[in-house]
Amino acid sequence: MTQMRTDNPWDIDRSTGRKLSDAFVFFGATGDLAYKKIFPALHNMVRHGTLTCPIIGIAKAGWNLEQLRARARDSVQTNGGGVDESVFAQLVKQLHFIDGDYNDPEVFSKLRKEIGDANSPIHYLAIPPSMFRTVVEQLDKSGCSRDARIIVEKPFGRNLASATELNQILHSVFDESHIFRIDHYLGKEAVENLLFFRFANTYFEPIWNRNYIDSVQITMAEDFGVAGRGKFYEEAGAVRDVIQNHLLQVVALVAMEPPTSMYPESVRDEMVKVFRNIPPVKPDKMIRGQFLGYRGEDGVSPNSQVETFAAVRFEVDSWRWAGVPFLIRAGKSLKVTATEVIVRLKRPPLRLASDSDPNYFRFRLGPDISIATGVRVKRPGPKKLTAMLIELAAVKNSPGDEVEAYERLLSDAMRGDALLFIREDAVEVSWGVVDQILGDVVPLRFYEPGSWGPPEADNLARDVGGWRNPE
Ligand code: BG6
Repeated sequence: MTQMRTDNPWDIDRSTGRKLSDAFVFFGATGDLAYKKIFPALHNMVRHGTLTCPIIGIAKAGWNLEQLRARARDSVQTNGGGVDESVFAQLVKQLHFIDGDYNDPEVFSKLRKEIGDANSPIHYLAIPPSMFRTVVEQLDKSGCSRDARIIVEKPFGRNLASATELNQILHSVFDESHIFRIDHYLGKEAVENLLFFRFANTYFEPIWNRNYIDSVQITMAEDFGVAGRGKFYEEAGAVRDVIQNHLLQVVALVAMEPPTSMYPESVRDEMVKVFRNIPPVKPDKMIRGQFLGYRGEDGVSPNSQVETFAAVRFEVDSWRWAGVPFLIRAGKSLKVTATEVIVRLKRPPLRLASDSDPNYFRFRLGPDISIATGVRVKRPGPKKLTAMLIELAAVKNSPGDEVEAYERLLSDAMRGDALLFIREDAVEVSWGVVDQILGDVVPLRFYEPGSWGPPEADNLARDVGGWRNPE
């Protein structure tokens, strides 16, 4: 890759060869995402020296800078593990605020002034997609988009058509190389480790295919409901909320071919190829569920048909994976909170007495992190040969060891490193995968909170040894 030239070598990030963003602008500064994730991430970035430029929050809330500072403190205290006073004082020095309506050109003239001498700002749209067009047009008209990058949040569209339209809006002003679409799962240490573990170890590649692997399953279980987000969830449902994005990204990392290098486009090319090889999931390979009590949540219709649980089965139609079932299930109000990938291997031909489960790899992506493999050993004792399954752990980290995903992603975007962001084609192809299972295409099944979802979901996995429930 050619290094960009500038007069000031310190403007260039050494690992990407790209310009460092020199003003951080975030829309939606008084919103929920800013409170839960963005302020804690900014606090950490200031602590780690990766955010030294002006930080400009924008929102329509009738607030002043003092109120935003108070909100930032509360956010870092509540969601960021506590305020480090010297770091926070520095963050506050860098923080500016513009209050106003995104339709008002005056807001963007003020932004232009606040950006001042910065010549490659980054704009983070932590706002609903319905406002993207307005903000993008105003950024363009005011000159704030010149040499700028843009970060956008999920949900990226509601279906293929709306995702394509959002991409068109962004492309009307920004080049794809300047667009960073966040899927915070890709910022997780454990998810990146999946990629790393596969390709950093010699012995995986020969067995990571249809000859040795029997099935792949991913469970994303949450033991809480919609946690006050009923209105949002009514528009989403489990497929749109986590399967089309987070869990399909995980599938891509499990199933992709080795990239030719770790250059972002090499990796992203391989991820997109996986989505292209997944035929659209069919409604008869899907179970939709809703937990009892969901309809009583705030913002939820009393006869809502939205799924809070979905289980799907499909194949990745490639030379490597043909015939290997991939199963995904995700649900709210299940028994535990845990996300796990289980890759089950085929059984060896020798049938040992009282057969135990076959070999497997287990990648636990959250809330704690582990990578483990199930191996069979002889059950100790003088009796005839019987197998016993034990687990060998390669990684075992408690919750909290993870580098906060948002810190990693925002720092990467500011350096112009697109590796952990979703490319335009990936968004569109992944919507294609779920296109036939959006909405109430199959009847809802109801389940008890604290269970593993509707029992009918078991049928999808019966021939592959059943679902493995994370602990
Ligand atoms: C979000 C979904 O994208 O991811 C939520 O909207 C979900 O419904 C959350 O709870 C899970 O993220 P994490 O990082 O807590 O596993």
